Amino acid sequence: MARMDDRQALEFPRAAYARHVAAVAATWEATLQGAGFDAVAVPAGTSPWYFQDDQGPPFRPNPNFAQWAPIAGAEGSVLFFRPGETPRLLFHQPADYWHLPPALPDWAEETFAVERHASAEALTAALAKHTAGAGRVAYVGPPAEGASNLSFAATNPEALLNPIHYARAIKDDFELAALRVAAAFGARGHLAARDAFMAGASELEIHLAFLAASRQTDAAQPYPGIVGQNEHAGVLHYQRYDAAPPPRRHSLLIDAGRQHLGYAADITRTYSAAADEFAELIAALDAAQQALIADIRPGVSYVDLHEKMHRSVGELLARFGFVSCSGAAAFESGITDAFFPHGLGHLIGLQTHDVGGWMAGADGRLAPPPERYPALRFTRFLEAGQVFTVEPGIYFIPLLLDALRGDLRGDVNWAKVEACLPCGGVRVEDNVAVTADGVENLTRDAFARLA
Ligand code: GLY
Ligand code: MN
Ligand code: MN
Repeated sequence: MARMDDRQALEFPRAAYARHVAAVAATWEATLQGAGFDAVAVPAGTSPWYFQDDQGPPFRPNPNFAQWAPIAGAEGSVLFFRPGETPRLLFHQPADYWHLPPALPDWAEETFAVERHASAEALTAALAKHTAGAGRVAYVGPPAEGASNLSFAATNPEALLNPIHYARAIKDDFELAALRVAAAFGARGHLAARDAFMAGASELEIHLAFLAASRQTDAAQPYPGIVGQNEHAGVLHYQRYDAAPPPRRHSLLIDAGRQHLGYAADITRTYSAAADEFAELIAALDAAQQALIADIRPGVSYVDLHEKMHRSVGELLARFGFVSCSGAAAFESGITDAFFPHGLGHLIGLQTHDVGGWMAGADGRLAPPPERYPALRFTRFLEAGQVFTVEPGIYFIPLLLDALRGDLRGDVNWAKVEACLPCGGVRVEDNVAVTADGVENLTRDAFARLA
């Protein structure tokens, strides 16, 4: 298929959005009724300034607001919803000549009853009027925000948030379309990053190549890109960008994404500088990840997938000679935990690590991960429409390997492991959507379209 045309990709999907807002409204209406509220105020939030400064970090909207109104830069705006009425958008459009005030897209004008307010005070006064006659009004947003002088029946009540968060795992057509566009731009960035690495670039240069090709600024990323060469590939959330290339290039792990209409792509690829055994390990983990993804369909337990991947990691450790015991023994004894210390993945959407991963039901019951895997962020059974990551890894992390004790130390082939320390580790991360009878791999599809 041809490379996606930017204009086509960036065209706002109006019809799907209209269905999305109707579905969001229906969910909130039922949930408000169930929780005993008559209306809800959902602020977009604001970005606080740094201590003793006149600037702050980039604004990130309250995801509960963004699900209704994916409007860029809607800082200070509030969504007010009273079932039976058109959702109201109190749009903060400050009279500001230092910054460019946000603009309201025409699809937002068509969707909401819009009020424009030039100051936070005016907006709060208007919100007070709407809440005054609306019965029991819930407030869903950052608790410290300008709600203090308004009287809400409850702030972030669990009876409301639990069902909303549980439902957010299931993505509709509008959300899936946004996730596909995010994946498409993310994949473009990853190919440019790979080429920069192969040409001998530094971490900083690879990062900049990723940003340029994925067409975004640093601040627009869904999370700070992880660009680690050599040992840095074994630092799970490595956060620096060395400006100079390393004296010897072994590996690159890049975990970097893209947002579109507030929905995130979270993609990791690992490369070896040479056609060596580390390259074979990358290919083997990639194959194991794809085999696991092929098993995805409604009804499967994500905890089972996670454990299956641990068994696969055990097999790979044995096959590549990192352990002298069998793969099964490496899994049973817990050796795999030192090589694969994070969860298999997490829900993704309006947040990179989206809410609700441990929820066992809309009522807020929790399904915490098994004791052995405290870092596993997703424990639900799979349902059509869920979107999550599948991101196994095998790392050579001295801190964790040093902690292997007793007999377990004897099962590790230390010479082999030490030879791999300069490569840091491997992670392969795709974002997948569960379909009615299988799976759509948003990430692989995006790369395939660029091939
Ligand atoms: N980029 C963070 C993660 O993969 O979860
Ligand atoms: Mn992830
Ligand atoms: Mn990631």
